[in-house]
Amino acid sequence: MNEVPVIAIDGPTASGKGTVAQRVAAALGWHYLDSGALYRLVALRALQAGVAADDVAALTRLARSLRPQFDAGRVCLDGRDVTDEIRREDVGALASRIAVHPPLRAALLDLQRGFRCPPGLVADGRDMATVVFPDAGLKVFLTASVEARAGRRHKQLSEKGFPSNIAILLQDLRARDERDSSRSAAPLRPAKDARQLDSSDLSIEQVVAQILRWHGER
Ligand code: CDP
Repeated sequence: MNEVPVIAIDGPTASGKGTVAQRVAAALGWHYLDSGALYRLVALRALQAGVAADDVAALTRLARSLRPQFDAGRVCLDGRDVTDEIRREDVGALASRIAVHPPLRAALLDLQRGFRCPPGLVADGRDMATVVFPDAGLKVFLTASVEARAGRRHKQLSEKGFPSNIAILLQDLRARDERDSSRSAAPLRPAKDARQLDSSDLSIEQVVAQILRWHGER
């Protein structure tokens, strides 16, 4: 049994869980796993290699041989810094489509569990609490209304100088929510023992503080 403590933070797209999880990890001096980045890395490799979204065997091979290096907020794959490339919308959309395949998900399990090193791990994703780290000491299901999430993504994109349209963003978020929650393999849903936190009207700082309070109560 692995005694290293884990805080699992799951939730839908654009709920802010990435930023929150990174800040919780920094506050505790723990490691951080961005599990979505792994699905995005497989998607990027698939795009580069021309592998189709339904070629499960080839996608699973790509996932099994994935050896990313995470360092100081950057991610390198096959000797190249791909931090910005995996954030592209087309990569995210393909990640969500290929994440439905159970063999591909299984191929990423050991890689994800390998991040569990002392003194602790904060992991964010969709199935951290339900599948990957079911023994996590604290499980948080972070939600926000679809409108709040679309507003945040709009702000993020415009800060980066990318114009975006709220109506299209709303449509895109709803489609991704639907796909993530309705798939049969590791659907997005709260673990039975997860604490739910709705961040629609909370700042990042308030969400981080609440999670650290829950952690301190344990
Ligand atoms: O930025 P966004 O929250 O949309 O995505 P992400 O966390 O970077 O993950 C990209 C995609 O990978 C998501 O749309 C999910 O479908 C999938 N994913 C997953 O299935 N399981 C995880 N633990 C993490 C991500």
